Amino acid sequence: MVSKRSVRDLGDIKGKRVLVRVDFNVPMQGGEISDDSRIRSALPTLRDLIKKGAKLILMSHMGRPGGERVESLSLAPVSQRLSELLGQTIDQSSMCVGPEVESSVQSLKDGQVLMLENLRFHAEETKNDPEFSKKLARLGDVFVQEAFGTVHRAHASTTGVAAYVPAVAGYLIEKELNFLDMAISQPIRPLVAIIGGAKVSSKFAVLKNMLGRVDTLIIGGGMTYTFLKAQGLEVGKSLCEDEKIDDAKEFLLAAKTSSTRVILPVDHVVVPDFLADAPMQIVGSEAIPSDHLGVDAGPDTVTLLEDVLKDAGTVLWNGPLGVFELEPFSKGTFAIARALANSKAVSIVGGGDSAAALAKVGLSDKMSHISTGGGASLEFLEGRELPGISILEDQ
Ligand code: 3PG
Repeated sequence: MVSKRSVRDLGDIKGKRVLVRVDFNVPMQGGEISDDSRIRSALPTLRDLIKKGAKLILMSHMGRPGGERVESLSLAPVSQRLSELLGQTIDQSSMCVGPEVESSVQSLKDGQVLMLENLRFHAEETKNDPEFSKKLARLGDVFVQEAFGTVHRAHASTTGVAAYVPAVAGYLIEKELNFLDMAISQPIRPLVAIIGGAKVSSKFAVLKNMLGRVDTLIIGGGMTYTFLKAQGLEVGKSLCEDEKIDDAKEFLLAAKTSSTRVILPVDHVVVPDFLADAPMQIVGSEAIPSDHLGVDAGPDTVTLLEDVLKDAGTVLWNGPLGVFELEPFSKGTFAIARALANSKAVSIVGGGDSAAALAKVGLSDKMSHISTGGGASLEFLEGRELPGISILEDQ
């Protein structure tokens, strides 16, 4: 279990300045927030701190402005949305460090909230610059880590500040870690992992770490084809990372002697061109035409996976099984979403794409947990240390 001090251990914080790192790096379309889940997921911590009379100073990044001020990446729309959700005015600062910010912090009353401007307008943030960390830390009496989506980054606001102020976890961090830790340390078995997505290179470390830990490992999506080619099969024009074929061979060999059953798709939806209206064919793994590419899992694969999911105790899902953004190629991914929604298993979903697929079929609320951190949850599943968690005080 996770044994870090949390906001609930802070005692009387009335009048205290609480510096909260949130991950409000939300998707935007035409200046509007298109998905506010990350803002909503921090509300329990923010509401609790406000109720207890703390003065809140919120810090976040947005996008990757590369150390320069980029107006389209201002956190102002986020402040606006947060103020609607909290039902109170949020003061939006135009900076994140310096005398102006310090004076805004000084004039905060108990229960008020100040949102700092995008941390990544300063190159020192991603460099984890100690002077910058000190300037941020000066704004608070205590630091609350609530940015699960960014805990795999060792930046000034995610790790650096903790050298200068006491650092504890927020409720979202606790929840994320408890679900992920449960899946790895004490899962209800059988434990099934479905790892999909386009690029095997970004998921190899997770696949390796899953061998011997999970009972069944389902590999799907575009990365399937690197494994099929490693088995000597024709993959046509399908996505394939040739430089990973040796690794894929090694992985499949290791899988043979491991306790984990590894399942690759057995049939595929293939098309001659990557176009939504291209003529589709369903073929077995041994029959992919050389002038076609795979874009979705076929019906036999779906039946096989539904059968595995029916009896699962815990399921970890990261990455789609096909190009679900295009309706004709979405059947495999959506079938998995439905099978998970209907299963009794504890379902833990990580990765923006799987979360987006669930939202598209309206099944998000049927999952036990959807992680707010795609990269962070992957690094956890790779067995790597998360720097933004390590710096928190132990219980
Ligand atoms: C994310 O969206 O994955 C997090 O906010 C981290 O963003 P980053 O990959 O730009 O560090």
